[in-house]
Amino acid sequence: MQKTTLITGGAGYIGSHTALALIDAGQQVLVLDNLCNSCRESLKRLEFLTRIRVDFIEGDIRDTKLLDDIFSRYDIDAVMHFAGLKSVEESVRQPLEYYANNVVGTLNLCHAMARSEVFKLVFSSSATVYGAPRKIPIIEDLGTGKPVNPYGRTKLMIEELLTDLCLSDPRWSIAVLRYFNPIGAHESGLIGENPNGRPNNLLPCLTQVAIGRAPELTVFGGDYPTVDGTCVRDYVHVVDLADGHLKALQALQRRNGIHVWNLGTGIGYSVLQIIRSFEDITGVTIPFRFAPRRAGDIAQCWADPSKAWRELGWHAQRDLMQMIIDTWRWQLCNPQGYRSQPELLASIALKQWV
Ligand code: NAD
Ligand code: UFG
Repeated sequence: MQKTTLITGGAGYIGSHTALALIDAGQQVLVLDNLCNSCRESLKRLEFLTRIRVDFIEGDIRDTKLLDDIFSRYDIDAVMHFAGLKSVEESVRQPLEYYANNVVGTLNLCHAMARSEVFKLVFSSSATVYGAPRKIPIIEDLGTGKPVNPYGRTKLMIEELLTDLCLSDPRWSIAVLRYFNPIGAHESGLIGENPNGRPNNLLPCLTQVAIGRAPELTVFGGDYPTVDGTCVRDYVHVVDLADGHLKALQALQRRNGIHVWNLGTGIGYSVLQIIRSFEDITGVTIPFRFAPRRAGDIAQCWADPSKAWRELGWHAQRDLMQMIIDTWRWQLCNPQGYRSQPELLASIALKQWV
């Protein structure tokens, strides 16, 4: 019988794109999600895209009994662990929620995995663990820094927990994927980022302005020591990220211990460069104004992704233009996010393929 990959947080933004990549590669997946920041509709759309039924369990990674039940009922041989809370701003206001969800949740998951002798894990980490980088581009071996918010600290704590786990038992094989700035959406326009409430990240904020839901974009800080005074980041297409997960999972078949890989393009763009590119590509003008620096932002960071290329054969294939086109298509097709009309979407998607 074919083994199953458990995808925690698989109804969310990156998890749903990765589930699609795994299914497309012929793998069996089981999604576990408590839907605190997502909805069933993303999974329905996955089913539409793949033409197969996606096994889904609504539940929480902190529910030990549920995890034991899942590991005993399904023939799981690996876990992709996306479930967690991810808002930097919220983590400052509600640190206990973040430590409970992210750290305790991961601890529970690892316990349940160990009890069921499932030792392969791919973990969603973040470039936030580097803190303010001493050297750019950032290489994995440079070591972690001091994250400046509770969210970042949960990611670093989890990385340390996973490192200790691998030291304690050689049967574990764990991939820690440090994402830079994921943007974009699947080219069908059917799945994408669907933030609950007011978005914080640059691209969702920018597209809110582009569709007229917000009057202008706030640019946080124009006085950074960067190319034009605004912050520089390494934006990476979510479909490329999904492919990185597939390759990391394949790599775990051949190696034990913990392995850290940066997933970024290696190219940095400033906030102003993103705004200008968006305007050039879509023809939509983005009114913006400068505001003071946002607390906790670093001036610039981008990845050295060469380790992922050497060891996984992975590199990002989609450029900024593709990222913007796919983000914009998702936004136009889904003005209400996943509450938008599926029939209309289906016809749009089909038209693109025919
Ligand atoms: P997302 O919020 O869209 O997806 C996370 C999913 O986990 C959601 O569907 C949510 O409902 C679920 N979830 C949260 N807590 C849960 C729990 N206790 N039990 C079960 N399900 C739970 O976020 P995303 O952007 O897809 O991020 C996925 C992972 O990648 C997260 O761990 C995030 O911290 C990490 N990450 C994201 C970014 C980014 O910019 N998107 C950058 C770096 C790292
Ligand atoms: N920005 C604006 N205006 C906005 C939103 C963002 O100017 O309305 C700026 C920010 O100040 C920053 C840049 O756009 O300079 C990117 O900001 P994001 O919030 O999109 O992304 P961050 O780099 O702050 O953080 C993201 C994820 C984190 C993750 C980190 C890893 O949100 O979870 O990338 O590099 F940890």
